[in-house]
Amino acid sequence: MRKKIVAGNWKMNNNETESIQLIQGINEQITGESLDNTRVIVAPSFVNLSASLKASENTPIEVVAQNMHEAKSGAYTGEVSADMLKGLGIKTVIIGHSERRSLFNETDEILAEKLKAAIDNGLEAIFCFGEKLEERKLDNHLLEVGSQLRNSLFQLKADDFKNIILAYEPVWAIGTGETASPEQAQEMHAFVRNVLEKRYGKEVSENTSILYGGSVKPNNAEEIFSKKDVDGGLIGGASLKAEDFSAIIKAI
Ligand code: PGA
Repeated sequence: MRKKIVAGNWKMNNNETESIQLIQGINEQITGESLDNTRVIVAPSFVNLSASLKASENTPIEVVAQNMHEAKSGAYTGEVSADMLKGLGIKTVIIGHSERRSLFNETDEILAEKLKAAIDNGLEAIFCFGEKLEERKLDNHLLEVGSQLRNSLFQLKADDFKNIILAYEPVWAIGTGETASPEQAQEMHAFVRNVLEKRYGKEVSENTSILYGGSVKPNNAEEIFSKKDVDGGLIGGASLKAEDFSAIIKAI
């Protein structure tokens, strides 16, 4: 059975002290909750990973990275490799967030390499994809997402999907306060599951968690999570407050 997942992407927010406090705050709020079959994940910045890992010991909270470089090592000033993340004890990395695509020019081809590097190094990847507003307006959202999946993900083998989580994040809903309707999310998630089934078979498609991201808040989480093919959320803004993030976890 595929897992339910609530993941917080902290982006470039929180210093070390704030990261530790936020993890402690979330843990306090969810203590006593039954988290059967549910994973709770936070993604602090690289520099706060060690302190966050330590703060998350003896809690149900998993600490993951927001990004990594595709090369094994070398002259890539300011970058971080899969091996460095593993060395810290990180097991999971977000790849392909729309901010990485749009602000840091990460193409489908680069993301294919990052996915391969993550999987080859035994890391689990949370792979993000989603259409822009123009593509949605032209009714091209399914085509666009299909192409992002084909270009970056479909080099992987069926067996690699044990280490893949998918996150559909329509770009027009990220940080805008505008959410995809639960029906729009369900339409896309069902489409993605269907594409996965055609390429990899039923087992992979049924066992891969597909998260929705884009302005998920305590007041809309339950409705979005109630959809059959939505297995949880990737949360930005609302993951920065222990109370809001915990309320979203409780909505799953
Ligand atoms: P948001 O961000 O929840 O602030 O819209 C989501 C994301 O970027 O993952």
